[in-house]
Amino acid sequence: MGFQCVLARLTYLLAGWIFISVCEFSEAGLTGSYVRDSGPTPDMPLDSDVFQVPPGYNAPQQVHITQGDHEGRGVIISWITPDESGSNSVFYWAANTQIKKAAYGIVVRYKYYNYTSGYIHHCTIKNLYFDTKYHYEVGSGNVTRQFWFVTPPQPGPDVPYTFGLIGDLGQTHNSNRTLTHYELNPVKGQTLLFVGDLSYADNYPFHDNTRWDTWGRFIERNAAYQPWIWTVGNHEIDFVPTIGETKPFKPYKHRFFVPYRESESTSPLWYSIKRASAYIIVISSYSAFGKYTPQYRWITEELPKVNRTETPWLIVLMHCPMYSSYVHHYMEGETMRVIYEPWFVEYKVDVVFAGHVHAYERSERISNIAYNVVNGLCTPITDDSAPVYITIGDGGNQEGLVTEMTEPQPKYSAYREASYGHGIFDIKNRTHAHFGWHRNQDGFAVEADSLWLVNRYWKSSVSTL
Ligand SMILES: *[C@@H]1O[C@H](CO)[C@@H](O)[C@H](O)[C@H]1NC(C)=O
Ligand SMILES: *[C@@H]1O[C@H](CO)[C@@H](O)[C@H](O)[C@H]1NC(C)=O
Ligand SMILES: *[C@@H]1O[C@H](CO)[C@@H](O)[C@H](O)[C@H]1NC(C)=O
Ligand SMILES: *[C@@H]1O[C@H](CO)[C@@H](O)[C@H](O)[C@H]1NC(C)=O
Ligand SMILES: *[C@@H]1O[C@H](CO)[C@@H](O)[C@H](O)[C@H]1NC(C)=O
Ligand SMILES: [Fe+2]
Repeated sequence: MGFQCVLARLTYLLAGWIFISVCEFSEAGLTGSYVRDSGPTPDMPLDSDVFQVPPGYNAPQQVHITQGDHEGRGVIISWITPDESGSNSVFYWAANTQIKKAAYGIVVRYKYYNYTSGYIHHCTIKNLYFDTKYHYEVGSGNVTRQFWFVTPPQPGPDVPYTFGLIGDLGQTHNSNRTLTHYELNPVKGQTLLFVGDLSYADNYPFHDNTRWDTWGRFIERNAAYQPWIWTVGNHEIDFVPTIGETKPFKPYKHRFFVPYRESESTSPLWYSIKRASAYIIVISSYSAFGKYTPQYRWITEELPKVNRTETPWLIVLMHCPMYSSYVHHYMEGETMRVIYEPWFVEYKVDVVFAGHVHAYERSERISNIAYNVVNGLCTPITDDSAPVYITIGDGGNQEGLVTEMTEPQPKYSAYREASYGHGIFDIKNRTHAHFGWHRNQDGFAVEADSLWLVNRYWKSSVSTL
């Protein structure tokens, strides 16, 4: 591995206090031994401030945005009106102008068992200026609400950009802490990459979809102002034939639109976007992915299209990690790993982010693609072309943390710890990006684990490495 654990302890700040946390020392990586309140925690009560319904008849709620095209000049604005369809239009204007333009969206509804959704609006706006702040307004009559967002710079190799990473968020007090820490992190995330498992509404009897609505209101304070890039997790499947719910992903697909057609995908569950200096490929752990399936075809046609001169940073998002050394969900990502890992190495993916396991883990650059059934070569080895695998399923949902780890810590595992938190992927230029993992209990600026990433495609141009 060439990796020497030189830190026998980690020092970090917590609200002005200094704690010393002793790490267990293993041959390969570090296991942070400071385990926080790990048990299941209830969701925030329905009357919590974060779930408040905005005042006024039919006021738009659950406002959230995502990228609306392939290049970053588009945005999809989504919101829900509870009482009637109301206005379908969005008014928007660049911050330095007063001329309001209108865009028109569509409205969808769905039923889930005995739940009927509100009027779910999705409005795509395209051909915005790059790198520009826009205000927008939804609603009608005397209940309108205004928000804003900033479009990314035009894709280019040396455009700095910061992505937040959150997974498995849910709606507990821990979820609220994760979101708050993300918002107050001095390295401001400009776009959030969400690695699946959103509301956990499916943990309620009959998957009580009112918990999808509370979640939508909870995240609005961030997701209305910066795009959240969606990945599906197992908690989005909502497949319950015993109550007549036989269409997988029904609530998710109605509530969260993504620009999948812009990347020649045939499903909203897998797609790609360019954003600044990054090319982001989103795939679905819970859709067919084997050879000949639509998703397999799509990704094998997609990877060769990535132009690393334009977008050097190739990031893959999925829900179920391909490398995880926790006991819970152990080897669940193995089938996808066997099929997709050779592609990730061949196309020099920089980093793969996943969730699912409610904890944090970062891998070394390793691959395990030599096995051919008879040669016995089935152990991860150091591989300079391989991505770093980061599990960031520690958003804070009601199921709690997973603390049980396989022992000894595998050599491929560089750092693992069961604490709630979020990540920041901070792209500096075509060769360098910095990743930091931020625990909820630390000060906002503290990185509990961090890593400089040297771009896999451009690394030979960096003299020191
Ligand atoms: C849906 O059905 C469940 C179980 O019968 C019941 O508890 C709940 O109140 C019902 N909800 C609605 C909106 O009818
Ligand atoms: C505005 O609000 C008032 C008071 O609730 C109501 O009487 C009126 O009809 C509303 N106007 C529109 C256009 O919705
Ligand atoms: C959630 O966090 C926000 C921001 O820190 C805070 O204002 C709010 O009171 C919190 N809500 C709950 C229910 O903890
Ligand atoms: C890749 O992107 C660069 C920079 O935008 C451009 O000059 C070049 O033509 C692109 N290459 C291909 C094959 O499209
Ligand atoms: C890229 O960013 C890294 C980290 O900030 C810096 O050390 C390096 O000099 C930069 N490279 C160029 C070509 O500016
Ligand atoms: Fe999951």
